[in-house]
Amino acid sequence: MNCMTETLEKSRELLAKRKKFVPDAIGIFNPSTASLAKGSIIVDADGKEMIDFAGGIGVVNAGHCPKPVVDAIAEQAAKLIHCSFNVATYDLYLQLAEKLAKLFPHGDQTKVMLTNSGAESVENAIKIARQATGRPAVICYEGAFHGRTMMAMTLTSKTGYKTGCGPFAPEVYRISFPDYYRYGQGLNLDEFSDIHLRELENFFQSTVPAEQVAAIIIEPVQGEGGFNVVPKKYLEGLRAVCDRNGILLIIDEVQSGFGRTGKWAAYQHYDVTPDISTWAKSMGSGMPIGAVIGKASVMDSCKPSTIGGTYPGNPVCCAASIATLDYMNELNINALGVRVGNMVRERFNDMKKKFSAIGDVRGLGAMMAFELVKNKDPFQPDAALCKKLIGYCASKGLIVINAGLHGNIIRILSPLVIEENLLHKGLDIIEEGMAYLTKSPAI
Ligand SMILES: Cc1ncc(COP(=O)(O)O)c(C=O)c1O
Repeated sequence: MNCMTETLEKSRELLAKRKKFVPDAIGIFNPSTASLAKGSIIVDADGKEMIDFAGGIGVVNAGHCPKPVVDAIAEQAAKLIHCSFNVATYDLYLQLAEKLAKLFPHGDQTKVMLTNSGAESVENAIKIARQATGRPAVICYEGAFHGRTMMAMTLTSKTGYKTGCGPFAPEVYRISFPDYYRYGQGLNLDEFSDIHLRELENFFQSTVPAEQVAAIIIEPVQGEGGFNVVPKKYLEGLRAVCDRNGILLIIDEVQSGFGRTGKWAAYQHYDVTPDISTWAKSMGSGMPIGAVIGKASVMDSCKPSTIGGTYPGNPVCCAASIATLDYMNELNINALGVRVGNMVRERFNDMKKKFSAIGDVRGLGAMMAFELVKNKDPFQPDAALCKKLIGYCASKGLIVINAGLHGNIIRILSPLVIEENLLHKGLDIIEEGMAYLTKSPAI
């Protein structure tokens, strides 16, 4: 059986047309196609139903095409699609800003600017932090992913995402992420965190003085980097380092937000409030909308017209986002995140016992992943097996995608509304794939 080529006729046509008219560089993370979707099922171009464990890369936490969101989009499209918030003020933008400020208070008073995407949120967060502090430098992490616009790409770590695109933005400094699976052996998480915090203090002496640093940007759970969870002591220590040095802490919640980790924000698992946070993905159920949320004093330090744009927070996207947040509230999205996360974690831990190729199972809430390695060695990533597994799953009716600097990590970003039987069916496919591809189920 050749998993990667087992596509049906219309799907094959679509992929051929894609090859002809769309640049190859726009990644194909999965060989599947799509014609329509509902809940956690995508119907491909040939009418085949696929269980969706990718969720449009973490965008449809509330499921595909939820009725309240579809209705809100249709209703708003008939009333006002666009006028630009810079030109005429409309209430939907304000309603959404108020909702987000109340959901994610950043200190006494919180302000919100809307954007079109995660990368745009990150770009603006950096502009805001620089203006608020009057400092140029930004610190980011190995394994980080913050988007593909120029500053966001500069902050992004994986060379595969950026080779040949430079020169990149100046005054960006990268430090190592507290990657416990690879480097934490023999230490407990607190000791490991202390070592990394000491390294940061040293970095201020060796590389960039703290008083020149505007912001440190971090994902509480690295998304594209492979679902590496920031240790609690580290993030709380980082907050203290920022406070001591007048540095702003930017938390990037683009992938981890809106119930994915079992809380509205992943940072709510920690005793930490960011100065600025960045959002997108699941807040619009697939409509292009994002947000920068921050302390009012920080957000208001920007000079006129240095932030904004033609489309950000357009009325249809705002309507979709408001309906999404209301629907998530009704669903109790965080409880769904916990439920899905517990089920996936249990199954993955079980698979880890069966397959020696699974070196690590990790995640927070329903942001769960396992890492494939050779010879049980964290430093021997098995990207080839990961690719084959994704192909196997696609041929059996499951869409799943990888992550990680080496592309050797299977990550789950299924809609959180997924029914238990579908979740287990998808997990069964992964387990069968592992057995088939490794041919040695037992360790
Ligand atoms: C943590 C994080 N930040 C930023 C981005 C960029 O978002 P977008 O693709 O909407 O520009 C992503 C996208 O995957 C992300 O995971």
